[in-house]
Amino acid sequence: MERMPYRPDLDMTALGTRPTTTTEITSSDWKQSLPVLAGTQVVLRELRASDAASLFALITCEEVSRFISPPPTTVGGFERFIAWTHRQRSAGTYACFAVTLKGFDTAIGIFQVRETEPGFSTAEWGFAIGSAFWGSGVFHQGAELLLEFAFETLNVHRLEARANVKNGRGNGALLKIGAVQEGVLRKSFLRNGQYLDQVLYAIVDDDWRDSLDAAAQVSSLVSVH
Ligand SMILES: CC(C)(COP(=O)(O)OP(=O)(O)OC[C@H]1O[C@@H](n2cnc3c(N)ncnc32)[C@H](O)[C@@H]1OP(=O)(O)O)[C@@H](O)C(=O)NCCC(=O)NCCS
Repeated sequence: MERMPYRPDLDMTALGTRPTTTTEITSSDWKQSLPVLAGTQVVLRELRASDAASLFALITCEEVSRFISPPPTTVGGFERFIAWTHRQRSAGTYACFAVTLKGFDTAIGIFQVRETEPGFSTAEWGFAIGSAFWGSGVFHQGAELLLEFAFETLNVHRLEARANVKNGRGNGALLKIGAVQEGVLRKSFLRNGQYLDQVLYAIVDDDWRDSLDAAAQVSSLVSVH
């Protein structure tokens, strides 16, 4: 999501206020702690306080952050963001994964998903990865893992994303993963004092399942020949 739902100015926990929840909490493992989602090269896992330094180093540069809402500006700010992600996950409204490479534990980016309707029937996802890993396939594999988690574990019906119209890589990445452009949300994102247009994308659960079936058919045809 272009807009990181974390709002340091509204983070009241430091003042002793309990976080609010919008969803009735039911028993579910992912609310206790996020599962580890392992692909062949990419592993998504829960964020830890110790990820703050690498995320600060990789995500705060202008190249990565120019089309998204400003990330925390200090390592301490990332630590508070990470603690906030844990509280939102416990509340059952949000999940944020660290992106790591198999065999290395360093967080090189994040994938996040939040409910926009109670119970995750509709949700929004977003992502940011250190620029050294752009064009490497890390996004694609991480996105496949996140989509499976969203549709199979969170039972999302409709997964939305927003990308600034000028964000070439963000729009290209969403199209590659099968997101469908549904329209332009005019002047919907405030960045540096300017309201910017965003493209609205969505993937619905049936389309995602159909695309998995189609991929399985292609791979069985390839293995026959
Ligand atoms: C968004 C992000 C995670 C995607 O990861 P990535 O590794 O760059 O993505 P990929 O290279 O797999 O895919 C991007 C695609 O967009 C294409 N692309 C690049 N610039 C483009 C442009 N100006 N216009 C259109 N397509 C473009 C790329 O060619 C690529 O497609 P290809 O693999 O078919 O060539 C990463 O760029 C990032 O972290 N950006 C900063 C944070 C951000 O903007 N997040 C919000 C996204 S909505």
